[in-house]
Amino acid sequence: MEGYEMAIRILGTGSYLPDRVVTNDELAEMMDTSDEWIRTRTGIGSRHVTEGETTSDMAVRAAEAALKNAGIDAGEIDLIIVGTFTGEQLMPNMASKVQAAIGANRAVGFDLSAACSGFLFSLNTAYCFMKAGIYQKALVIGAETLSKTVDWDDRSTCVLFGDGAGAAVVGLDEGTESLFIMGSDGSKGEVLSLDARPLKTPFSMNPKEVNPWMTMNGQEVFKFAVRKVPECIEELMKKAELSVEDVDWFILHQANVRIIESVSKRLGVDSSRFPVNLDHCGNTSAASIPILLDELNRSGRMKRGDRIVLSGFGGGLSWGATYLVW
Ligand code: COA
Repeated sequence: MEGYEMAIRILGTGSYLPDRVVTNDELAEMMDTSDEWIRTRTGIGSRHVTEGETTSDMAVRAAEAALKNAGIDAGEIDLIIVGTFTGEQLMPNMASKVQAAIGANRAVGFDLSAACSGFLFSLNTAYCFMKAGIYQKALVIGAETLSKTVDWDDRSTCVLFGDGAGAAVVGLDEGTESLFIMGSDGSKGEVLSLDARPLKTPFSMNPKEVNPWMTMNGQEVFKFAVRKVPECIEELMKKAELSVEDVDWFILHQANVRIIESVSKRLGVDSSRFPVNLDHCGNTSAASIPILLDELNRSGRMKRGDRIVLSGFGGGLSWGATYLVW
């Protein structure tokens, strides 16, 4: 394929949010917080919380909507990657559940755990498989049930998160090459963490206590995000030989509107090019970028040919940015 540059082409998008909406005022009836505190510190007004649907149920609904939007049959999908760290089971993985539910009989499926960078890392992984000529069409999903990971007595974390799923049907096209940057810093992993199952065997010596809830050092995460996100977008722009002025949309992981505003300021780009849906979704981790993509796609705000930078960041610590043409 020498002489051809291969680009990620997003052929269709879909998303799913549970019906139950929990407003800041409702939280203020449950704990010592207020709509004013949550809105001014985070930009969040409400979030969707599952009343029983699982991570894979939401992933399936988003996948079905994305296939319909792309006009593609599930049988044409070769690869399914679900970015998640909140599946209802560790085995089978969420991607296999989606594969069975939608009837994507030819597809191989696996999950990718990279917290809030999960969708971005999954998209880049799918791109590499396609660019290598191994698979032609992929379904990339971000799906999370954060509500089961937060301690609902801890106002400093539970107000931030929401549940949901977003999906994109992805293919390859000739055109401006898609590029990405990804990074990890495991030495800072403890600033955002969630324990897994405890080691409890007849052979385990002094097993470590397991905390069932997510823990977070909010200020450290904030500082990391406002430094690392503009840095990696600038690195990506250099690699793409573009300037931030050439980009129509910066679609950032939706963690906090103050993080998004700070990135827009540091890059010197007007905040109108940083779409936000935090106000009604909260932080849905790996699901936030594909849910936002779906909103922009369906509302017609994003047009074919628009140049886009996606950027995810979070637990790991992990971060990344991807450049693609819509
Ligand atoms: N309602 C009311 N008060 C709250 C509160 C809530 N929900 N949560 C915390 N507070 C209080 C604290 O107890 C503290 O009170 P004190 O001064 O009496 O001790 C005060 O508000 C300030 O807390 P602090 O943690 O310093 O606030 P902050 O300005 O750093 O904002 C975050 C907290 C979490 C909103 C902010 O740090 C943040 O957004 N960090 C990034 C988190 C994130 O995005 N994580 C996911 C990344 S993928």
